[in-house]
Amino acid sequence: MDHFLYRDGALYAEDVPVADIAAQVGTPFYLYSTATLTRHFKLFDEALAWGPHMVCYAMKAASNQAILKTLAACGAGMDVVSGGEYARAIAAGVPGDRIVFSGVGKTEEEMRAALSGGIRQFNLESEPEMERLNRVALDMGVVAPVTVRVNPDVDAKTHAKIATGKSENKFGIPISRAREVYARVAKLPGLRAVGIDVHIGSQLTDLEPYRLAFRKVGELTDVLRADGHDIQRLDLGGGLGIPYTRGNEAPPLPMDYGNLIREELGDKGCEIEIEPGRLVAGNAGIMVSKVVYVKSGEGRDFLILDGAMNDLIRPAMYDAHHDIIPVIEPAPGFEYQPYDIVGPVCESGDTFAKQRMMPPLAEGDLVAFRSAGAYGAVMSSEYNSRPLIPEVLVHEDQFAVIRPRPSFDEMINRDTLPSWL
Ligand code: LLP
Repeated sequence: MDHFLYRDGALYAEDVPVADIAAQVGTPFYLYSTATLTRHFKLFDEALAWGPHMVCYAMKAASNQAILKTLAACGAGMDVVSGGEYARAIAAGVPGDRIVFSGVGKTEEEMRAALSGGIRQFNLESEPEMERLNRVALDMGVVAPVTVRVNPDVDAKTHAKIATGKSENKFGIPISRAREVYARVAKLPGLRAVGIDVHIGSQLTDLEPYRLAFRKVGELTDVLRADGHDIQRLDLGGGLGIPYTRGNEAPPLPMDYGNLIREELGDKGCEIEIEPGRLVAGNAGIMVSKVVYVKSGEGRDFLILDGAMNDLIRPAMYDAHHDIIPVIEPAPGFEYQPYDIVGPVCESGDTFAKQRMMPPLAEGDLVAFRSAGAYGAVMSSEYNSRPLIPEVLVHEDQFAVIRPRPSFDEMINRDTLPSWL
């Protein structure tokens, strides 16, 4: 459930008409709902209420300071994957001991920053990383709390570009080698193993792959404890999918996921950590765009929008589907018609949807891309010298621009000229 609904024929974000925001901010822009963000976060918190847990929001999904502060105020920890994300989390007031650090390529600088802020844990992804973190921690005179990310070789049954738990993926250490790796961790004085980490992919719409992975983690917990390791935490990653097509999809709910975790791992006496991103932010955000032209092509009509692949890359990158709806509901009795919905960027790949059945639309009409809150703004670029689009947050009947649209000058003035030009 989200808070983008029609009232008297107009799309609202909570209690604010989307068209009013468009009139003030200009299009295109991202628009988030505070009520939806907090509701989704709380669903996870409640789903794990049966035991000690921490929901560490995977901020790669949407990392605006206002979003992080909103979630932190609900008690969210953060899952970060770069020095930049770590700095954003700290800037939003999240204490280091509520931040977990994931990612396959952590640099020494990132390790130092996180260690000096008292990081909750590093999720280690390889042996060279383990050796480096040990050296850095010893040099700083601290002990780094770590988990090892195990790769359970489970098929997450999702898009190949976002599956991470198969043995051919670059992530984690093969689960078959976990004992050996934990034995090495135990010998390194700069590291202290506090748990196990696993993450098998994103946009999972079936719980079975989770069951297989969690069962393997449960077995590994017993084995590692028998080897003398103090396994206190299980970080189970993120990945729970969302419905991208209204009415057609019913992915499992956070409560089902929480119950599954309890069934498979509830008896281990561990603190459960999860790292959801998409389910928290995805349906809490839309991208609003305007029809620039309706162009009749051969055998098809194109809706040319002012939003483009640089603003929302998911359709071009993953063939992802986003529902696209008019901001003003069409008059009753209209007939759907097929459009190719495209942006102005000079690539055929700048296509959001082909032959999408839509109510009739005309120049100047506003449309909203649903489910664009996660992996939307964060994956945008300035390709074609299109400045990053603004982000706006709604809270009940108020809204605020949480990232303004840069002017052309601001965009250009980030470049610096060498002395010889
Ligand atoms: N934890 C780790 C270690 C991850 O790699 C990810 C996502 C998450 C948590 C959060 O997963 P989520 O709950 O959001 O599914 N750009 C792609 C998605 C990439 C996901 C990368 N890792 C997309 O637009 O679909």
